[in-house]
Amino acid sequence: MKSQRHGLVLDRTGAIFAELEALGLAGWEFQVVSTVEAARKALSRDPQLIGLVAFDSPHAWPAAELDQLLARPEVEWIALLEEGLLRSERISPELLRSFHDFHSLPLDRVRLAFTLGHAHGKAQLCRSAVGVRGEFGSYGMTGTSPKMRQLYRQIDKILTVDAPVLIGGESGTGKELVARAIHQHSARARGPFIAMNCGAIAPSLIQSELFGHERGAFTGAGQRKIGNIEAANDGVLFLDEIGDLPLEMQANLLRFLQDKTITRVGSTERVKVNVRVIAATHVDLQRAVAEGRFREDLYYRLNVLHVSLPALRERREDIPLLAETVFAEHRHQASPQVRGFGSAALRAMMDYEWPGNVRELINRVQRAMIMTENRLIGVSDLGLPTSAENGAQTLEELRSTVERELIEVSLKKHGNNVSETARQLGVSRVTLYRMIDRLKIIL
Ligand SMILES: Nc1ncnc2c1ncn2[C@@H]1O[C@H](COP(=O)(O)OP(=O)(O)OP(=O)(O)O)[C@@H](O)[C@H]1O
Ligand SMILES: [Mg+2]
Repeated sequence: MKSQRHGLVLDRTGAIFAELEALGLAGWEFQVVSTVEAARKALSRDPQLIGLVAFDSPHAWPAAELDQLLARPEVEWIALLEEGLLRSERISPELLRSFHDFHSLPLDRVRLAFTLGHAHGKAQLCRSAVGVRGEFGSYGMTGTSPKMRQLYRQIDKILTVDAPVLIGGESGTGKELVARAIHQHSARARGPFIAMNCGAIAPSLIQSELFGHERGAFTGAGQRKIGNIEAANDGVLFLDEIGDLPLEMQANLLRFLQDKTITRVGSTERVKVNVRVIAATHVDLQRAVAEGRFREDLYYRLNVLHVSLPALRERREDIPLLAETVFAEHRHQASPQVRGFGSAALRAMMDYEWPGNVRELINRVQRAMIMTENRLIGVSDLGLPTSAENGAQTLEELRSTVERELIEVSLKKHGNNVSETARQLGVSRVTLYRMIDRLKIIL
């Protein structure tokens, strides 16, 4: 027997849901919710591949909330709506951008069964490209590569203790995102998260930014000011670019880490503060220590727990997923005709070095989505180098291009089934897997 497939129905009044149930579609089970918030909760609890949104009026749903819901990359959405609404200005842009398909009322059993089956098949394909159901990442981060999985496991452990953390990684790899995730998922979540960029504050002001000052402590200190350490009491203090902290301030920070008290500038009173310090750096702090620019004792105090974020080029397999996620999240700003990425664009993203890491990827994809005039985002929309720009093609490159295209077409034809594709192409499965790997084909 074929297993049941499930769909979530968002319907204000339940009337369209009743019509759907009356069709008695074999193999389908539907759950109904009446608010966008309830739909969001239902999907978090029990991930679904198919969502149906009923429109009984142009204002059926708050646009911003609905946009956010429709942005979930794992769900294929189908709109069910009164025929007249197809011409409504409020609804048609949504249809263009976010729905897999739409269906006007009254519901047609055969056509709806077909649409549902097609949408389900597509959602499953996307899911198999991503891996486990609904698993796109963890802690608000996107990525399922071994390097990211290792990172999630490290964070799991970091959450169980309360020691300082040092986060290393190139620019744009997600250091601040990780710091915020640690705060949000730890016992300190109810406390504040105070972020401070040590490189962006004039050295003369850092002391007072960190420790605060009393009124009249120095010229211009008209009011008492609570410093960032004190403001982060019971929460987390995130010290970004810790490598830029001037040496004398390093001594003061070390003193705070050792005795957990601060003294405001212009005061002698010692104030007890309960703060977890998370520091981040994009420079090699160990080298800074070796060169005498960073105190060794402070380095060891901060580096009790260490997280090192991988550069995007070290986890290239996450690039399509990240690009798709950015696409889904920013769909509301995109040119209305744009549907996704062309295969050359995906390949160019896989080949690129991404010096600016995830931040650069987000920027390039967002810009391409707004600026493109095509249905599929191309290499030039992303501003990435094409292989032609990298010089004339060698015979080897030409061979790879032909092989890649053949394999991709055949895989598509066989629904990504590697055994059947191998049979058609006359190679063994092992050989095909090797080629897929070598040619960086995305399954
Ligand atoms: N794994 C990820 N999944 C999704 N978004 C990510 C991921 N890593 C980073 N980002 C996003 O990329 C952008 C840059 O991340 P973040 O600011 O945390 O980087 P950073 O390492 O602190 O960079 P910098 O060193 O330049 O300050 C943010 O918009 C963040 O949300
Ligand atoms: Mg940062």
